[in-house]
Amino acid sequence: MESGFYTNDLERVVEADRAHIWHHLSPHKKYETQDPLVIVEGKGIHVWDARGRKFLDAVSGGVWTVNVGYGRVSIADAVRDQLVKLNYFAGSAGSIPGALFAEKLLTKMPGMSRVYYSNSGSEANEKVYKMVRQIAHKKYGGKKYKILFRDRDYHGTTITTLSTSGQPERAAQYGPLTPGFVEVPHCLEYRNQYPDAESYGIAAANAIEDVILREGPETVGAIVLEPVTAGGGVITPPEGYWPRVQEICKKYDILLHIDEVVCGLGRTGTWFGYQNYDIKPDFVTMAKGVASGYAAISCTVTTEEVFNMFKENPDDPMDYFRDISTFGGCTAGPAAGLENIRIIEEEGLLENVLTQGAYLMERLHGLMDKHQVVGDVRGKGLFCGAELVADRVTKEPAHESKVAAVVAECLAQGVIIGMTNRSLDGLNNTLCLSPAYIVTRGEIDVIVDAIDNALTKVFG
Ligand SMILES: Cc1ncc(COP(=O)(O)O)c(C=O)c1O
Repeated sequence: MESGFYTNDLERVVEADRAHIWHHLSPHKKYETQDPLVIVEGKGIHVWDARGRKFLDAVSGGVWTVNVGYGRVSIADAVRDQLVKLNYFAGSAGSIPGALFAEKLLTKMPGMSRVYYSNSGSEANEKVYKMVRQIAHKKYGGKKYKILFRDRDYHGTTITTLSTSGQPERAAQYGPLTPGFVEVPHCLEYRNQYPDAESYGIAAANAIEDVILREGPETVGAIVLEPVTAGGGVITPPEGYWPRVQEICKKYDILLHIDEVVCGLGRTGTWFGYQNYDIKPDFVTMAKGVASGYAAISCTVTTEEVFNMFKENPDDPMDYFRDISTFGGCTAGPAAGLENIRIIEEEGLLENVLTQGAYLMERLHGLMDKHQVVGDVRGKGLFCGAELVADRVTKEPAHESKVAAVVAECLAQGVIIGMTNRSLDGLNNTLCLSPAYIVTRGEIDVIVDAIDNALTKVFG
């Protein structure tokens, strides 16, 4: 291709994309015969592609990210002003937006007190894994090094975060993985593993204790959990689960790491997902919604107690967190994050998440009444899922090709929805919805009506 500036020649852009881009999470053979989707503009809750087609984006940028919507000039201005003043300095030094954003963020997280900046959710989680390992060496002679993770949860794409993937299809073929990570069972009541239990939530939490006892509590340093499992099928925790998990962590001196990469900054209608369940975490990680995708930023947040463990012995040259993330020193992220929080506060978006989230759930229950194929609907705030089944009684999952056909049919109607994607063999059968916090009741009707039509078309 000739060099030159062709930003308005969208045919050329698509051609360049097809020739040179390796798309994320995409089988590419199909692009030999069809154009890749190239998104060129966004405003509010809508995006436009290179062919001029308009879509209602019901998944906030595909992966629960653009929470305050597209085209936010005030965030762009805040980022621009900051870049002109100071774009970057390594995170070993401070910056104005870094300090002010941390201060603001922590007002939303009582009990937490330190913020460590990096670039992605995976990286934020790996920081915790490193901290836990270092604590194991400092306090427990290296013995309490194991980290538990849960079936169906996801914590990132690097080899080590994949080692904590409860989604086998994500990790398959990328081994050998990192040792020292141990899986505990999921807590999805619809796929009940404890039919005789009096309380499903307690039984699911007790299953964690069983793993700890099997491994030896003296070897387990931490557990990482999503507050509401996202890509593993939008799993809301059952009643009684979280208090029991917290109790178990306390009993065995196990640090609790909550992965808020999806739920963080308002997705469930509270600032953080864990705040729905009265949990006191030791670590909280966040990324996607921190700046709504206007800049790359992730945060690993800890308590002062954890932080203090990394400065106990000033005479020991190894006694601090020996970690750096080059782009964790970019100032655009915290500048965008500050404006993102201001928008959520001033526009009352948490309230809108709760109001519209309740309406979305009501409409999804309506779909369940109408379509036998909808086996279960789950959600918290504007974070909802509908699990499709071939048979309601046996709960045999709908085939993923049919679930994908529903997603494609919605796209053809101008609505972008998501689904569990190459996560769980035979269980990639949950439709995922996570519109921006600015969504209106009318837009929710458009989303659910599109799904309604698509279900009729695909399943009859
Ligand atoms: C719960 C959760 N944690 C971590 C990650 C990884 O984040 P990133 O893709 O920014 O590395 C994701 C990504 O989808 C996620 O859903």
